[in-house]
Amino acid sequence: MIKFPNDFLWGAAASAPQTEGHSSRNGKSATTWDKWFELAPEKFNDNQGPENTSNTYEMFVEDVVNMRKIGMNSYRTSISWARLLPDGQNLNDEAVNFYRTYFQTMIDNGIEPIINLFHFDMPWWLMEKGGWENRESVDDFAYYAQVAFEQFGDLVHRWTTFNEPTVHIECGYLYGYHYPAVVDLRRAIQVGYHTLMAHVMAVQKFHQVNVDGQIGIILNVLPAYSRSDDAKDLGAKAISDLLSSRSFLDPVVLGHVPNELVKLLKRNELLPEINDNDKQLIIDNTVDFVGINYYQPRRVQAPKNPNFPAKMPSDWFESYDWPDKRVNPYRGWEIYPPALYDIAIMMRDEYGNIPWYVSENGMGVADEERFIDDTGMINDQYRIDFMKEHLEQLHRGIEAGSNCFGYHMWTFVDCWSWLNGYRNRYGFYRLDLNNNYKRTVKKSGLWFQQITQNNGF
Ligand code: NOJ
Repeated sequence: MIKFPNDFLWGAAASAPQTEGHSSRNGKSATTWDKWFELAPEKFNDNQGPENTSNTYEMFVEDVVNMRKIGMNSYRTSISWARLLPDGQNLNDEAVNFYRTYFQTMIDNGIEPIINLFHFDMPWWLMEKGGWENRESVDDFAYYAQVAFEQFGDLVHRWTTFNEPTVHIECGYLYGYHYPAVVDLRRAIQVGYHTLMAHVMAVQKFHQVNVDGQIGIILNVLPAYSRSDDAKDLGAKAISDLLSSRSFLDPVVLGHVPNELVKLLKRNELLPEINDNDKQLIIDNTVDFVGINYYQPRRVQAPKNPNFPAKMPSDWFESYDWPDKRVNPYRGWEIYPPALYDIAIMMRDEYGNIPWYVSENGMGVADEERFIDDTGMINDQYRIDFMKEHLEQLHRGIEAGSNCFGYHMWTFVDCWSWLNGYRNRYGFYRLDLNNNYKRTVKKSGLWFQQITQNNGF
């Protein structure tokens, strides 16, 4: 029997823009997702836009009851900036009321809300003045953070600033999956830097508001494994790790941007614009804990024809096809549970054994309806196996002394996923879009209930 530490958090993760719905109602202003869908609906799988999410705005009480049924004791979601402060300044009372009732309902049901501030949902008013490219975004975000802490700090004791900051940077400014779909490494780096400073200033506000709780950030880590021990491949691995994990982990936990990153950017004439006292602000505002999203590793090799100065990250490292790769047959991503152990050890040895938790892990499955069994339930044994293997590795890491306090699956009920719409399903509960957003537990949800009951398996 594998037992997890007492008070271990067993939960699921989601975000406001992927679950709430009511995206242009109840006082909420538009985000880049709402506008992009209006401008180019054909980009979105099956023409499903941000209005058509799992409708948590109306159904959160039922959701919380369902969370309790499978024994969850925590739930991570986010606040919508454009709902709370539709013009960036004035408070939307309806939003305050909605979130307070939502969080209180979780608490009344024994579920701790872990609340994040930014999950790829840039308000349109801010995008119109350049979004994260404009340094003003740092102060705008800090103000939003302050308001959120003041309004909900009595109910929420674990906060995070950003979810997967490297994703909005890469998807928005290198790979075209998020608005504004720019392709420009220099601009991507400036966006990344302002995101880091927005995080830092939000942490400063957290302390000024004196919230009774802890502040963290959620980072997606793609541990890199190099093709060979050849110096060039190892160099590619080091740069991949630098960009994917260390670019945020080092400043937010250790209080400084890695020297190797500064040198790399300097060599490539890519240093962002910075303000004089930023360095001190980074030192002064480190986090209390970290959430790590882990899905798959990166297999890397040295690039064959790099540009210098670099124009894209592929000038620094390339992916290669690992011959022993085990693949999720329903989505294509690599399945490699030992990376979770490696992450646990990295957190222990390189980040002062800071408290951390798995803020996302999960398995996306296309056309999941094909797995409905005779009883009408989705028989997602593949997801159970996936969780089990990852939990075994996580447990090994904890046994080795890593300070991990929880495990959250993405996600609780199947949700809308950006341009992919509902292509891949991830939930413990199935969402029926043709039947008033009906929720039905999957086999994995029932399995999770046993884990939460026994604090292990
Ligand atoms: C990471 C993100 O936080 C979330 O928004 C996304 O839908 C899931 N992973 C699944 O890919």
